[in-house]
Amino acid sequence: MEQQTLSELDKRVSQNLAKIKNRILIFSGKGGVGKSTVAANLALALSEKGMQVGLLDVDIHGPNLAKMLGVENERMGISENYLLPVRVTENLKLVSMAFLLESPDLPVIWRGPMKMKAIQQFLGDVKWGELDWLVVDSPPGTGDEPLSIAQLIPATAAIIVTTPQEVSLLDSKKAVLFARKLNLKILGIIENMSEFICPYCGKRIDLFKKGGGERAAKELGVPFLGRIPIDPRIVESGDSGEPFILNQPDSEATKAFNNIVERIINQLKKD
Ligand SMILES: Nc1ncnc2c1ncn2[C@@H]1O[C@H](COP(=O)(O)OP(=O)(O)OP(=O)(O)O)[C@@H](O)[C@H]1O
Ligand SMILES: [Mg+2]
Repeated sequence: MEQQTLSELDKRVSQNLAKIKNRILIFSGKGGVGKSTVAANLALALSEKGMQVGLLDVDIHGPNLAKMLGVENERMGISENYLLPVRVTENLKLVSMAFLLESPDLPVIWRGPMKMKAIQQFLGDVKWGELDWLVVDSPPGTGDEPLSIAQLIPATAAIIVTTPQEVSLLDSKKAVLFARKLNLKILGIIENMSEFICPYCGKRIDLFKKGGGERAAKELGVPFLGRIPIDPRIVESGDSGEPFILNQPDSEATKAFNNIVERIINQLKKD
């Protein structure tokens, strides 16, 4: 890619953003709560409704959406000086650092300003085209990457993913305060890994307790978007690169993802 001044890149970022109707940033107070799983499946659920969806993995150190969605061996093409996103399904495109790495096993060591530039290029140098939604998956915590995105993409809405334990309350609180500080519109909290439904007998077991996400939402005065049960097939799908909601359309977890999508659409309609 040829050298360009920052203001040129800024211009390309805003030209691209003007073609994107809704932007959602998925983040959490801590790691491993299922952000990438939620980002991938919400993006898929939106695209299955016939809308054009872009999914951006800004987890520069541990990008795993490409693997989760079975496109890790693809690479982004180049057209007229723009990078082309990788197509996952007819209506879903993905951009990830994983597509630019020589080997997925090598750690990426970046300094702050370089990370910011890389994220800016994902927004300005990629030919996203007309999108109804851009779903952004962030790395764990309330660090540089979500901060850069919030600064680079104006009018972004935020979804906070948490697990149901009481101890997660503190992390959700941190995430909500972070979103408020950055003036992000908080769409709400999703409680992931909420209860386990036994695949043999259908009994519901609260492995990590239940309700922490809903209580956190109430306490913090933000909407509760819903709970996604623990389903071992989510782990299998992620590991084998088979998009979960497409493969398990009748599962409780898929229904939960679809209900959450409806809530998100309704909430944005209210504005
Ligand atoms: N509802 C669920 N049921 C079963 N397994 C799940 C569920 N949600 C996520 N997982 C599994 O938990 C692990 C962590 O999920 P994921 O990678 O989405 O979390 P993350 O918050 O993005 O992690 P990181 O902070 O490292 O980016 C994955 O193996 C994923 O398959
Ligand atoms: Mg992740």
